[in-house]
Amino acid sequence: MKNAILRVMFIGLMAAVPFATGAQNTVKVGVIAEFSGPFAAYGEQIEAGMKAYMKQHGDTVAGKKIELVTRDTKGPAPEVAKRFAQELITRDKVQFLAGFGLTPNAMAVASVVTEAKVPMIVSNAATSAITTRSPYIARVSMTIPQVSAPMAEWALKNGIKQVYTVVADYGPGIDAETQFTKSFKTGGGEIVGTLRTPLQNPDFSAAIQRVKDAKPQAVFVFLPAGEQGIGFVKSFNERGLAQAGIRLIATGDITDDHVLDAMGDSTLGMITSFHYSAAHDSPENAAFLKAYAAANDPKIGKANFMAAAGYDTMAAIYEVVRKVGGDIDGDKAMAALKGYKWVSPRGPVMIDPETRDIVQTVYIRKVEKKDGKLANVEFDKIPDVKDPGK
Ligand code: PHB
Repeated sequence: MKNAILRVMFIGLMAAVPFATGAQNTVKVGVIAEFSGPFAAYGEQIEAGMKAYMKQHGDTVAGKKIELVTRDTKGPAPEVAKRFAQELITRDKVQFLAGFGLTPNAMAVASVVTEAKVPMIVSNAATSAITTRSPYIARVSMTIPQVSAPMAEWALKNGIKQVYTVVADYGPGIDAETQFTKSFKTGGGEIVGTLRTPLQNPDFSAAIQRVKDAKPQAVFVFLPAGEQGIGFVKSFNERGLAQAGIRLIATGDITDDHVLDAMGDSTLGMITSFHYSAAHDSPENAAFLKAYAAANDPKIGKANFMAAAGYDTMAAIYEVVRKVGGDIDGDKAMAALKGYKWVSPRGPVMIDPETRDIVQTVYIRKVEKKDGKLANVEFDKIPDVKDPGK
């Protein structure tokens, strides 16, 4: 009997030992994102960027091995994202949460990280308000108002005075419409019509026809990157809006580097505002693209802004581990992130100490052929742009 008890205790101890050592030497990052369904490229790009960072910098920092634990929300699924966050924290003992391509998924996790005091790095979701939902959230991607205001200013400077807006009907789309309208009207522009399209399975033909009938000088568009941009541009061309003298201006989500080739030459000349282009000319971007190619299967396709933000997510996490060590405390982690400056593949960036949102250069770009391939070529820039949405 005594022996049996001792044996049980011994087995229990043995089981605990590797776990304890593992916990000390490993920092687990729970990555909640969309890895299947129509938004599958979001999770894939974010993770591919994370892997690129780890390939380039090694998977160990300050003596801690960094381990990614991924969970697929399969699309916009706030309840699923929330449950994954709870499980990752309580069962898998992750010290960080990261990922979040879509706004509803990021929003749903805010209350979980507040309660658990676990730092959460948003790798894409771009609705301005996300970082206000928890003091444990920082964002390394962008905010939609941050990239929309410069597009309004560019339009005004270039003689565009009447615009129709078309946006996806959820957080970032409403942010885009609100900020573009505000900046454009402040500068003397007129909004001649507004339309919102559904996040899931939109059909753009009716929207495009209404824009055509209104005859604005331009249509300003925000759509979540990927397939929707392809669909919109196809309809825009089929209905002959360019021939009717209507210009297409947008945030860079629409000319997403990952799908630009699939959109084809009709994108040539399209003007967008954004924080990242795969064609950005810098040693940091070259190093990122090299690491992305080395760390990932070529089938993943071209790197885009989500991959760049996945890479920067790891830059932020490595910085916290360097400063705080392996036993991540939420408050210390956030203190380490506030004011953190680094040179991203997109250019110089900083985490705003007040909002925990990213401060960065916003570029105005034009689709051109570069070495025979379609590219978002930057031709103007506004440095140190804070989120104007707060
Ligand atoms: C978002 O859901 O916040 C989102 C998704 C795709 C984008 C930008 C923002 O391209």
